[in-house]
Amino acid sequence: MAEKRYYVTTPIYYPSGKWHLGSAYTTVLADAVSRYRKLDGYEVFFLTGTDEHGLKIEKKAAESGKDPKNYVDEIVADLKRLWKLMDIEYSKFIRTTDDYHVKAVQKIFTKLYEKGEIYKSQYEGWYCVPCESFWTETQLKEGKCPDCGREVTKSKEESYFFRLSKYADRLMRLYEENPDFLLPGSRVNEMVNNFIKPGLSDLAVSRTSFKWGVPVPFDNRHVIYVWIDALSNYITALGYGGDDDALYQKFWPADVHLMAKEIVRFHSIIWPALLMALDIPVPKKVYGHGWLMMGGDKLSKSKAGNALKDVIDPFVLIERYGSDSMRYVLLKEGPYAGDTPYTNETLITTINSDLANDLGNLLSRTTAMISQYFGGKAPAPKGYGDLDRQLIDMAEGLYSRYRQHIENCDVPSILEDAMALVRRTNKYIDETMPWALAKSEEGRGRLSTVLYVLAEALRICAAYLYPAMPKAATAIWKSLGVEEKIDSFDSVKRFGGLKPGSKVTKGAPLFARLDANREAKELEKIALSSQKKEKPMEKPEISIEDFSKIELKTARVIACEKVEKADKLLKLTVDVGGQTRTLISGIAKHYSPEEMVGKTVVLVANLAPAKLRGIVSEGMILCAEDEQGNLSIISPDKEMGSGCEVR
Ligand code: MSP
Repeated sequence: MAEKRYYVTTPIYYPSGKWHLGSAYTTVLADAVSRYRKLDGYEVFFLTGTDEHGLKIEKKAAESGKDPKNYVDEIVADLKRLWKLMDIEYSKFIRTTDDYHVKAVQKIFTKLYEKGEIYKSQYEGWYCVPCESFWTETQLKEGKCPDCGREVTKSKEESYFFRLSKYADRLMRLYEENPDFLLPGSRVNEMVNNFIKPGLSDLAVSRTSFKWGVPVPFDNRHVIYVWIDALSNYITALGYGGDDDALYQKFWPADVHLMAKEIVRFHSIIWPALLMALDIPVPKKVYGHGWLMMGGDKLSKSKAGNALKDVIDPFVLIERYGSDSMRYVLLKEGPYAGDTPYTNETLITTINSDLANDLGNLLSRTTAMISQYFGGKAPAPKGYGDLDRQLIDMAEGLYSRYRQHIENCDVPSILEDAMALVRRTNKYIDETMPWALAKSEEGRGRLSTVLYVLAEALRICAAYLYPAMPKAATAIWKSLGVEEKIDSFDSVKRFGGLKPGSKVTKGAPLFARLDANREAKELEKIALSSQKKEKPMEKPEISIEDFSKIELKTARVIACEKVEKADKLLKLTVDVGGQTRTLISGIAKHYSPEEMVGKTVVLVANLAPAKLRGIVSEGMILCAEDEQGNLSIISPDKEMGSGCEVR
């Protein structure tokens, strides 16, 4: 039998900022796909990494006063920490700044040049820095980048070009002859109608206007276009263009490149054309899922205030709910062709209903009953009836259904099938009523069968849930006394693998049930407080000279009364180092006149007088105000006289 090998990749990520849950989606999906394939007997290579060159990184590094490599090192370390916390088991993490990659990219570029696939000319057009994409005048949408809608900059420079235009026919053939090359199917039309039919232009593949990239080896005024550098990672990581290409020989062509829809164009047009030009086989599949909408958009940068309550640092979420819960929610709710909004509510409801209720309860009920009625030893079944057969058929059907779904990387459907069996098994408890069977001697035989069916159905479900929730699934097998690791589907393809007599233990609940209302409020608080921390200053920076123009003084309130027909205003009489002044202040909703008398406050003493409700106010007192509109007067921390300078 041919050896079963599987090569799955994620995009390599731009280390350009903070990570959010949406950016984790593809990697969690790839990890689940990789684990499923391993259970199915494949030798898997799972590649991820970072895309570290380009103008965008060069600019960001300059803004933070660092050299680009130091700048990305910190962010890459953070990303690796995130993957570790999320139990991502990649085979390799490539960085495009890795020496072997840089050399291999240079070899690739030289080879293309020597084959006449790359030539030198002049580039004139538009460049979108955030997308690192070139556009012609006609491709722009209302003068902006057609991918992200942001400003583009005019660019004119000498450039090397890749003969992309000559590959249009071969690309069309690739799609026609391999209907599964690009998934979901709707993406094929997008590529054909938006890019290939209007005519492919040759692609500018070098830049001279910045330095942070792989130098063109035979013309080092140029750096190689970041997308050529980045796409090549899928083969350089395997050793292509290096000293040892054994992994390349073993795993290429890739079985699937996973990504979100915005970069499908690069993977289904530019990448296959480059490979064709290099006489290398093209990947078997490109899968471009939709976006997880974080707070209203892909990047979680929406200005839509209310939606931001759902944007929470993934590190915080993992610490709070554990990686299994986060992985399950992402995989179950994750987008297929369209986009899916992500909300705190979805997170809480899914943890409560699927994990704490359905799965957690099934485990605790099953193990509790086996402990109670059979002293913690899995009973042997004593013959199956129709009801049992329903569950057995469902459990045995999981494998063939899995096989269909995995071909489309459809992890949500695999999970849905496993959870449907969990729910069916919970219902089976209500239908068979083991507690009633336990009451009579005749019922004991049936009870053995029922409890065996429960435990075995749960063992089988756990194997299909393992790629999403490796920790919880492993804990389930342990609780059921299964000694083997979950490393193959072999023992779950047929019902009956659980050994009667296995030592069953009732462990701690798998997932804690959340108080939905309280949790939603907590999450909202966490989101808002972290966003406040990140909020930039709203007013322009001022110099110390600007500040010194403001005269701040302590003042003691000697009299206070309400201003007639103005429910927000108080009239204060204050003493400022022996001088008396009148002030009008909008604090009447927060302080009564009686409370104010005797207080020492801080006064902006040189503010131009202003007339309010016919009264001249000679200055202003300082207060702090929070987002809910609560006010607090600023007073000196220790007893101070009036008229002291505040600075
Ligand atoms: N560096 C390029 C990829 C080069 S691959 C040769 C890039 N990087 S990226 O960091 O901007 O985005 C990488 C990927 O992150 C997206 O393609 C997608 O897989 C994932 N996602 C980022 N935000 C996401 C969502 N909100 N939702 C789903 N996936 C998201 O593009």
